Amino acid sequence: MRGLVALMRSPASVAAASSKSRRLTSTAISPSKPAPLSDPFEAAHVDLLLSPNSPFHRRTTILKTCTSTQVILRTQLPPAPAVLAAEVQTKGHGRPGKPWLSENPLGLWVSILLEVPSSQLPLLSLLASLAAADAVRALTQLEPALKWPNDLFLKNRKLAGVLVETISRLNQPPLALLGLGLNLHQQKADFPPELKDSAISLLQASRQRIPRSQMLAAFLENLTRRLDQPIPEAMEDWRQACFQLGRTLSIRVGTTILTGTAETLDDSGHLHLRLPDGALQKIASGETDFPA
Ligand code: BTN
Repeated sequence: MRGLVALMRSPASVAAASSKSRRLTSTAISPSKPAPLSDPFEAAHVDLLLSPNSPFHRRTTILKTCTSTQVILRTQLPPAPAVLAAEVQTKGHGRPGKPWLSENPLGLWVSILLEVPSSQLPLLSLLASLAAADAVRALTQLEPALKWPNDLFLKNRKLAGVLVETISRLNQPPLALLGLGLNLHQQKADFPPELKDSAISLLQASRQRIPRSQMLAAFLENLTRRLDQPIPEAMEDWRQACFQLGRTLSIRVGTTILTGTAETLDDSGHLHLRLPDGALQKIASGETDFPA
């Protein structure tokens, strides 16, 4: 594969894209007969939709296919920030090491290589899930609920997941590799049997096809804003959007499963779980796959 820098778009292709940009509107779908899928996905379109001073301007590369955008960015290490999306991934992965089915061009599959202060790194997945929810709200008026630590839900089904990995560097803070998988155009038949009742796409939730370029640009704009927001404010937004607070949860931390009441999320991004014996556990990361 050619290097990421070589794949960046030329000014001529940006100009050509401006004549096509009118196509970047969402399409309402008739409930009975969805229109055939047409969702051109080009870096030049994304650039046109970003504000001119965006740190992500001219940083996007879109591949037709790859193994995993996380793996490609980690291997190629272009200068940060770098945005790599793929129409199709043959080996997408989620957390922790679970496969992420993305062998079709029906969602937004993107990774972003970022340099963030070490203090912000533990909060990055929370900030990114807020940014993804902001983008969904802006484009559809739907309000996703957040599941700790980094899933987006609509109608009690998973719409999107965020994955943060790190790349260590000598004498410098680690780089962050932020991955987002967001279901856009799938219909029930597009999900494998085991996900049909637990996953949802924006098409299913809103009857609208939101173009991938539009969703990616909205996500990048909101990510920029969330990374600049004072942390206590962002964490308050997160608490408001989370559907788990006050509920009984089972959380897997390593090989241990803890069950208790999710009391709050603190400004360090730790979930406070009240155990049946009254003890309070502050949990930095874990999996809440098992709502009790
Ligand atoms: C999760 O819910 O477990 C997180 C899923 C993250 C999937 C995205 S798709 C783009 C990027 N490439 C990958 O292989 N994974 C992330």
